[in-house]
Amino acid sequence: MSKAKLGGRFTFPGTSLTVHRIGYGAMQLAGPGVWGPPKDPDGAVAVLREAVAAGVNHIDTSDYYGPHVTNRIIRQALGPYPAGLVIVTKLGGRRPPDKSWQPAISPEELTAGVHDNLRNLGLEALDVVNYRVMGSGHGPEEGSIAAQVTVLADLRRKGLIRHIGVSNVTAAQVAEAQAITDIVCVQNNYNLAYRHDDALIDDLARQGIPYVPFFPLGGFTPLQSSTLSNVAGRLGSTPMQVALAWLLHRSPNILLIPGTSSVVHLRENLAAGQLTLSPETLAELDGIAAEPVPD
Ligand SMILES: NC(=O)c1ccc[n+]([C@@H]2O[C@H](COP(=O)([O-])OP(=O)(O)OC[C@H]3O[C@@H](n4cnc5c(N)ncnc54)[C@H](OP(=O)(O)O)[C@@H]3O)[C@@H](O)[C@H]2O)c1
Repeated sequence: MSKAKLGGRFTFPGTSLTVHRIGYGAMQLAGPGVWGPPKDPDGAVAVLREAVAAGVNHIDTSDYYGPHVTNRIIRQALGPYPAGLVIVTKLGGRRPPDKSWQPAISPEELTAGVHDNLRNLGLEALDVVNYRVMGSGHGPEEGSIAAQVTVLADLRRKGLIRHIGVSNVTAAQVAEAQAITDIVCVQNNYNLAYRHDDALIDDLARQGIPYVPFFPLGGFTPLQSSTLSNVAGRLGSTPMQVALAWLLHRSPNILLIPGTSSVVHLRENLAAGQLTLSPETLAELDGIAAEPVPD
């Protein structure tokens, strides 16, 4: 008997937003370096349409991908949006002409970011907005995010944002944000080989809050491990499918947003929800985090 479609379903806490656990991350749809238009605009539209046709109803984006590029492609490919589609975007960054990633965290910048997302996605309100802490580029760093989360909470009261999440954050920052407003998701860097958030994932699971790993396949440095390849070979699947299936098994509150610009890879990633990993295989894969990082 086949398993639940796309890894089963999850409802963002305190909301009416229910999504399949396997979603899609749109960052790869912009040009090289997440800058400018895609090399294959028709291909980008095809990936999004195929995802939604297959049942994906959780799409992650940002107006600073491109900038503006992925949101406009999403609108072109999917508008008018089907009922039940949840688009999650993020604020907190900007891309100046030198293509760097810079913080955009003043009240004016955050407010302008909401309006950019609304305009480019063609929406009157944003389902979920993550406040993404830019930091130094080396993972989450402690420091208050209260001022920025308060601005998002004000924009929520004005009806421009329905729900708020946080991204690239520490456990203390999650708690700080929760003292200001309801937090419906946390999006941090996590995968089979990079497991700094194990304790945070378990804590969020106890609270019913989804944890959405970015770079689930390793991001700009795709996962490579002989253990992963061996397991995939044994199961007749691909390493990327095993990496995604491992995340689905890791905790029931993990939602996936793997990114791809390829319809073939998309189909492969969506099929990962059909893979069952035995306790022995999970234990073997758990060892990957301790393996040396390949050169
Ligand atoms: N909150 C944040 O700060 C943050 C940061 C980064 C990303 N994100 C979000 O998280 C999403 C996922 O992260 P990501 O896209 O950067 O990284 P990812 O999902 O870990 O990996 C994407 C990379 O893997 C390749 N790939 C995908 N499926 C594959 C397959 N089946 N076989 C082989 N290669 C495959 C893609 O290339 P192809 O295009 O050739 O398939 C791309 O190079 C993003 O799209 C974005 O929405 C959020």
